Amino acid sequence: MLLPVTYAALVFGMRFGLLALLIAIGIIMPNLFLSQSGPTQDDIIEIIGIVIIGLVVNLWLESYETDKRHRQVAYLRLENAQRELQRMQQNLRFYLKQITIAQEEERRRIAQELHDETAQDLIALSRKVDGFMTLHPALPSTDESYLEDMHQHINRTLSGVRRFSQDLRPSVLDDLGLIPALDWLIPELSKHYKIKIELKINGEAKRFPPEAELVLFRIVQESLRNVGKHAMATEVLVTVDFEPETTVFTVRDNGRGFHPPDRIGDLAVSGKLGLTGMQERAQLIGAKLSIKSVSGEGTTVKVELPNPSEHTEHPY
Ligand SMILES: Nc1ncnc2c1ncn2[C@@H]1O[C@H](COP(=O)(O)OP(=O)(O)OP(=O)(O)O)[C@@H](O)[C@H]1O
Ligand SMILES: [Mg+2]
Repeated sequence: MLLPVTYAALVFGMRFGLLALLIAIGIIMPNLFLSQSGPTQDDIIEIIGIVIIGLVVNLWLESYETDKRHRQVAYLRLENAQRELQRMQQNLRFYLKQITIAQEEERRRIAQELHDETAQDLIALSRKVDGFMTLHPALPSTDESYLEDMHQHINRTLSGVRRFSQDLRPSVLDDLGLIPALDWLIPELSKHYKIKIELKINGEAKRFPPEAELVLFRIVQESLRNVGKHAMATEVLVTVDFEPETTVFTVRDNGRGFHPPDRIGDLAVSGKLGLTGMQERAQLIGAKLSIKSVSGEGTTVKVELPNPSEHTEHPY
């Protein structure tokens, strides 16, 4: 009797389970009452047992089904929330990519303007002062030293403008590529931070798309600036390993080290944008960035990216 009741409750729900129970009792009852001896005590206990077990089975299956429905609804909600989060992350990544591109474009424009306009004007001014001094060789010594001082001041400003322009966007990177740009950057920063920085290239050098070379340059530049600002290091080794499948850039210092947070992006909240920017830029070109630091021993920043293939379109 209980089998069809359980089956009906399981397949069609509690209402049909109860209906099946009623039908089952309806079938048993006439047999009991029509028999000559009438229902015995055992028969009554049996029927009560069937009714109770039938009800319990129905209620249990119903609560199980309700639970399952709730779980399904919760799962669907979670799936929707995950999809929404993924969409937001994609939008954010796209936004960051656009900002990075716009920032680089703006830097390039300002650097070019400084080089083509401001530096040229300063050169012209310097020549004018120079020419005036040549045309007037017999100036009083005070005027002469005043003009000489002015001439030197203009030349110093010119070097400053050139340095600033190179810092914004080194023309050597666009003209000659990443390795010559690193060759230019390393002595500059070594002089600025008074640290010994060595560049070592292993394997046969390869070229990457210009956007990727710019990203790699910025990562090495920020890593070295971090060493200069925070590491208290005396030596830094920059290595570029051109391997058959991948290329690995490593910046290793012998400074005091630090504890990088589990999620680098968390640093951005406290206004520290260098490492976050490095990670975002690395992702834009499909590279893997890792930072290992040991207190008292130093820090190693590593960027690994697959070598460009002629057939793959660059993501950035
Ligand atoms: N090579 C390093 N040696 C020691 N500490 C480092 C090194 N690189 C980074 N850090 C630590 O990690 C922190 C985060 O670096 P990050 O470049 O993100 O920010 P920042 O250099 O402080 O500021 P920003 O780069 O925005 O000017 C630094 O404040 C510093 O404490
Ligand atoms: Mg920094």
